[in-house]
Amino acid sequence: MHKEGALCLPVFATFSLAIVFQAQQTARSLGPCSEVKPGAAYKCMDLNLTRLPPDIPNTTQWLDLSYNPLKGLTSNYFSSVPALTFLDLTRCSIEKMEDDAFGSLCNLSVLILTANPLQFVGLGAFHGLTSLLKLVAVETSISSLDSLPIANLTSLQELNLSHNLIASLKLPSFFSRFLFLQSLRLQENKISSIFIGDLDALSSRNLTLELSRNDITFIQPDSFAGVRLQELSLRACFESSASMQAGLWNLSGLHVNKLVLGNYRNIQKLQTFSKPLLDGLCHVHFQEVTLICVKALSDTGSLSACLNNISTVRLLDTDLKFFSDFPRNSRVRHLEISDCPLRQIPALQLSNLEELRVIRITHNRNLADCDDFEGLPNLETLDLSHNKLRCGISWENLMNGTPNLKRLDLSVNLEIKLPPELFGPRKLEYLDLQRTRLEGPGKVPVFLGLANLLYLDISYTDIHIETECPFCGMDRLQVLRMGGNTFEGNQLGNSFKNITQLQVLDISNCGLQQVSPDSLAGLPRLRELNVSNNKLLGLHPVIYECLQALTVLDLHNNQLATLTEEDLKNLPRSLRYLDLSQNLFDCSCGHISFLRWAKEHRDLLQYADGMLCHNPVDLKNSILVNFDLSFCQVSMTTVAVSVVVSLAVVVCLILVYKYYFHLYYMVILLSRDRSSTKKDNTYDAFVIYSSEDQEWVTQELEETLETGIPRFRLCLFYRDFIPGVSIMTNIIKEGFQSSRKVVAVVSAHFLESRWCNFELEIAQSWQLLDSQASLVLIVLEGVDQRAVQRKLGLFRYLRRNTYLVWKDRELNRHLFLRQLRLALLDGKTWTEEELKLMLKD
Ligand SMILES: *[C@@H]1O[C@H](CO)[C@@H](O)[C@H](O)[C@H]1NC(C)=O
Ligand SMILES: *[C@@H]1O[C@H](CO)[C@@H](O)[C@H](O)[C@H]1NC(C)=O
Ligand SMILES: *[C@@H]1O[C@H](CO)[C@@H](O)[C@H](O)[C@H]1NC(C)=O
Ligand SMILES: *[C@@H]1O[C@H](CO)[C@@H](O)[C@H](O)[C@H]1NC(C)=O
Ligand SMILES: *[C@@H]1O[C@H](CO)[C@@H](O)[C@H](O)[C@H]1NC(C)=O
Ligand SMILES: *[C@@H]1O[C@H](CO)[C@@H](O)[C@H](O)[C@H]1NC(C)=O
Ligand SMILES: *[C@@H]1O[C@H](CO)[C@@H](O)[C@H](O)[C@H]1NC(C)=O
Ligand SMILES: *[C@@H]1O[C@H](CO)[C@@H](O)[C@H](O)[C@H]1NC(C)=O
Repeated sequence: MHKEGALCLPVFATFSLAIVFQAQQTARSLGPCSEVKPGAAYKCMDLNLTRLPPDIPNTTQWLDLSYNPLKGLTSNYFSSVPALTFLDLTRCSIEKMEDDAFGSLCNLSVLILTANPLQFVGLGAFHGLTSLLKLVAVETSISSLDSLPIANLTSLQELNLSHNLIASLKLPSFFSRFLFLQSLRLQENKISSIFIGDLDALSSRNLTLELSRNDITFIQPDSFAGVRLQELSLRACFESSASMQAGLWNLSGLHVNKLVLGNYRNIQKLQTFSKPLLDGLCHVHFQEVTLICVKALSDTGSLSACLNNISTVRLLDTDLKFFSDFPRNSRVRHLEISDCPLRQIPALQLSNLEELRVIRITHNRNLADCDDFEGLPNLETLDLSHNKLRCGISWENLMNGTPNLKRLDLSVNLEIKLPPELFGPRKLEYLDLQRTRLEGPGKVPVFLGLANLLYLDISYTDIHIETECPFCGMDRLQVLRMGGNTFEGNQLGNSFKNITQLQVLDISNCGLQQVSPDSLAGLPRLRELNVSNNKLLGLHPVIYECLQALTVLDLHNNQLATLTEEDLKNLPRSLRYLDLSQNLFDCSCGHISFLRWAKEHRDLLQYADGMLCHNPVDLKNSILVNFDLSFCQVSMTTVAVSVVVSLAVVVCLILVYKYYFHLYYMVILLSRDRSSTKKDNTYDAFVIYSSEDQEWVTQELEETLETGIPRFRLCLFYRDFIPGVSIMTNIIKEGFQSSRKVVAVVSAHFLESRWCNFELEIAQSWQLLDSQASLVLIVLEGVDQRAVQRKLGLFRYLRRNTYLVWKDRELNRHLFLRQLRLALLDGKTWTEEELKLMLKD
């Protein structure tokens, strides 16, 4: 039963593998398209297809047909794939789209028609697209918004008509039905004039209107009056600074959340930037302005006072170097300066802006020097990341200048020196210093004044932790990320004392060789522990036991060979994410409990396919969770069986040695020819005795029985055994097989003799086999009765046996002889010769 199963399994596996392989082959070879997700997603890009491949399954949801010469779309062109939600028809040379071209695609949400030279679009071409959210018709030679018959697409959220020939912003009346429209992109069209009433049909109040790269020459005053937009982009729309200045005046009355003005890197139309340039914006209601790619802007002094009342100013990719007089008394709350050639943090100038909540000065390639802010009582976020800062900061100055600072980001700079000060910005909750070389941490305690810090990232900051209490002072710290640093002696030591609230700890890539049990013992709330990319051979079981709140444990890329049974037993119950990939697992059967556990916990194990066996050599690089456990069971049985077999062999050998005679006897007995036993009984009795008793046998048996009347023939070994034949054969053939009875002369010598005992045992068993032969036991004088009883056991009491005791007294001798004769007479037949002989006497 078992054997059959073991044989069936590989056969079945191979068979099903073959089927799967076959199925995959057929799936892969489905038309010329590649299968991204079987039955659901197909990529048929650039295959010179002239029509929809007929074998695309009707369950397909995602289909990329771009770069195929489809030429035209007839009615119900896509009826074989009704479940489509995404359809890409980029550059399909489509000139003609008939009515109901997309009929039956009621679930389609994204349709991309980019770069098709549309010439004829049927009025009902978009019928049936009731779920369409996004329509992209970039570069499709559309000449007006009216020419696109999309009135029925009432669920539309995004309409991208960039790079077309649209000359008028006049929205057709059906736009009033586009209640959910969030973005209308008309970048790079031919809109040169905007008139009152153009946006009348707009019903959405949350529209992002992209008009960049239209050459706008005329905006009728009040054409935006009363219009509400989420965002308006007017990059590179005006041919010069002067026309922009004039155009902005004519935007008056517009309500917009975000306004984007400026150029493109390669299109610089604004050659000058003067203070009045943005003055027109004083009549526009907006919250955020972004000035992007304005090379002419090099000094904040040229910013209009109209920016004073808005809350967010973003200056991206400008030539800003000077901060003369940032709009004074401004109410700006959020200031961003990125990608500018600033050399120094304009701390002093910005210190006037009392309303500031957020400062982001990032990605400035020349910014190296720090400076302390003063008098920014409301500042909460200071982001100075991705610059080239090489400087020292002072916690105390930060505390004094920005007493409400909550978030400080100094990441990705060159080098920052942190001071060991006792007081710091008390409200600071978030501090990111990653990937900036840090000086101070690890050698001296530098975070003592940050008692409210919740989040600290010092990953990859070149820190070497040597001090006793590097994180002391941050009593509330919940998240500590410090991957990519090093610890003294490659051990954690006591680094994490006094941060008992910690929930997330990342010490990946720290060259750790071991984690002592007590180093993490003080972190009872830890939820997430990342010790990946170290050199750990394992974690101490006590650590698992300490971290009972752990849900995420990342141990990937270490040198783990296995998890012991104790480890597995102690794993926190709360664990939901365990990454053990890229370790050096030992998949030999000695670790079967871990192998079995891993198979049973695939849900828990992340990147389980990356858990490869390192040992034994023949399993190297095989996937651990695919390990065949029955392999180990088989070899365990093999071991068990071979142990049992060898034990049995040893026992047999011992038995053979001990019972050699018996076995020999058995062999002879079994090989004896049954018929030959029926041969005439040559002797009346076979006498077994010890050779020490030869004299007694000659006197008392041989002389009396063989000469007296009736006369008996005895078989005596010294006389009747055939020479040259093995003694065993003689005993059996001449003794037992040729005699009617067996007479055993039991003496002290007899009991001691191995041969005699053996013969007696044979006699006893003979008696069991051959129902006639019976035993006459003669016990000589002076033999210990108890020894005799023990030796003879039950045979003494069998009725067929005669039990005689010899005593050397006349009367007893007579009686003895009579009883002996009687016993021998039992069953005797006389031959004629014998009778004659007896008569003659
Ligand atoms: C595309 O297919 C057409 C015929 O359908 C053939 O004439 C043309 O050479 C093919 N083009 C390429 C690039 O294979
Ligand atoms: C898809 O095709 C299968 C046969 O290939 C058919 O049984 C099924 O009804 C079709 N489903 C739809 C929605 O057309
Ligand atoms: C469209 O989507 C709905 C809901 O996901 C689904 O029940 C329906 O079968 C889909 N229609 C087609 C034609 O696939
Ligand atoms: C819309 O088209 C423009 C090109 O004018 C492109 O840059 C942009 O990514 C497109 N937007 C979407 C959402 O497809
Ligand atoms: C407004 O549009 C933006 C995208 O431009 C979107 O993220 C936001 O959810 C929309 N708000 C509302 C209220 O529809
Ligand atoms: C702004 O409106 C005025 C007044 O109608 C007009 O003269 C001027 O040309 C307009 N400027 C632009 C750039 O549209
Ligand atoms: C560490 O914490 C203990 C008690 O929680 C406190 O007594 C000790 O002062 C702290 N040490 C530092 C350096 O904060
Ligand atoms: C642990 O840190 C490594 C970087 O060393 C990162 O790749 C991995 O995603 C982190 N693990 C988790 C669970 O965040």
